[in-house]
Amino acid sequence: MSKLNWGMIGGGEGSQIGPAHRLGAGLDGLFAFTAGALDHRPDEGRAYGRRLGLAADRSYGDWREMLEGETGREDRIDLVTVATPNATHFEITKAYLKAGFHVLCEKPMTMTVAEGEEIVDLARETGRICAVNYGYTGYSLVRHMRAMVARGDLGAIRLVKAEFAHGHHADAADADNPRVRWRYDPAQAGVSAQFADCGIHALHMASFVIGQQAESLSADTVSCIASRELEDDAMVNLRFDGGAVGRLWTSSIAIGRQHGLTLQIFGEKGGLRWSQEQPNQLYWMPLGQNLQTIERGQAGLSPEADRTSRVTVGHAEGMPLAFANIYADLAEAITARKENRDPDPAATLYPRAEDGLRSMAAVFAVAESGKADGAWTDARPPMFR
Ligand SMILES: NC(=O)c1ccc[n+]([C@@H]2O[C@H](COP(=O)([O-])OP(=O)(O)OC[C@H]3O[C@@H](n4cnc5c(N)ncnc54)[C@H](O)[C@@H]3O)[C@@H](O)[C@H]2O)c1
Repeated sequence: MSKLNWGMIGGGEGSQIGPAHRLGAGLDGLFAFTAGALDHRPDEGRAYGRRLGLAADRSYGDWREMLEGETGREDRIDLVTVATPNATHFEITKAYLKAGFHVLCEKPMTMTVAEGEEIVDLARETGRICAVNYGYTGYSLVRHMRAMVARGDLGAIRLVKAEFAHGHHADAADADNPRVRWRYDPAQAGVSAQFADCGIHALHMASFVIGQQAESLSADTVSCIASRELEDDAMVNLRFDGGAVGRLWTSSIAIGRQHGLTLQIFGEKGGLRWSQEQPNQLYWMPLGQNLQTIERGQAGLSPEADRTSRVTVGHAEGMPLAFANIYADLAEAITARKENRDPDPAATLYPRAEDGLRSMAAVFAVAESGKADGAWTDARPPMFR
């Protein structure tokens, strides 16, 4: 089977997330990087695409030009990644789905719940894959946690505690820094800042691992830096549809915290703890026994964990390899369609448009609850009520 053709929109030179996508998509040799519209400045985007090895006629100046150019080709791209700023995701994703492309969209998938529902409907109507890059769920040990919960190692899940708290916007002097200011401005960022940027990763990971969806929530949102209109810190209490209780803290003013994504799961038979900054170890304590360290890559893990671990135990794997696992799932899903067969069941865990929609409903619920002194609010999108 020849490589699948992959294209990218956004992720230009100096972008934060572009390199992780290129490393992830390229890792297993399943995708060839064949087309791109990488920058909001057409000339810079074309030139950077050429330097990365794209052919001149497939290093495009903007995403519309790329859509037109790729649509007519026999060897057109099999998957396009949308890694542009948030407000552009909906329009670009919609256009590519309509033209019959499979899409991996960066989070947040849309800016409103109605747009999210439109994307879910469109993906269903067109039969195209619309994945959303909750890339941290690609980590081998996150998948192993999910497998442990699903096979009943923890028993019924009582409590999930998720955090995504960093300190990178803690300097009050940044209030005037244009790279930071827009994030807390409703005109540019929407109804939420920190929860929409980071909290949704933590919530999605909690749902992914425990196999339950948020039904309702109560949020305390604050702007610790007073000049900010949107929140830079939120504490969210959750109730999940399978009976679990959730506690989620997200912050951008937590000085001393670096990335700050962590997950703890407490069931009736044991507890798990995992952190994005030490992703190769998972801490597991079965009720009444000693605390154990599960190492990524050790023997006897779940098929989902084995499939997503590449480097020998003891050597660190990190975030671009987690992204690579999302790409490997997508390659398997696309190839299985081409070959008219079912995909490997261990490879069906990539996040989908439905997850992007659920996140957007949670974002609006957090904003609403935060304004109403933490009133309990329905966290589900209307489509799933
Ligand atoms: N999944 C994750 O873990 C994760 C992490 C970081 C960022 N993100 C998401 O990725 C997206 C990009 O974030 P970033 O931090 O890389 O942003 P960035 O500002 O660092 O880079 C954005 C890139 O997109 C390009 N661009 C802007 N508009 C464009 C357009 N219309 N057409 C083509 N290119 C365009 C810019 O030139 C730039 O190269 C955001 O939606 C963000 O939320 C996700």
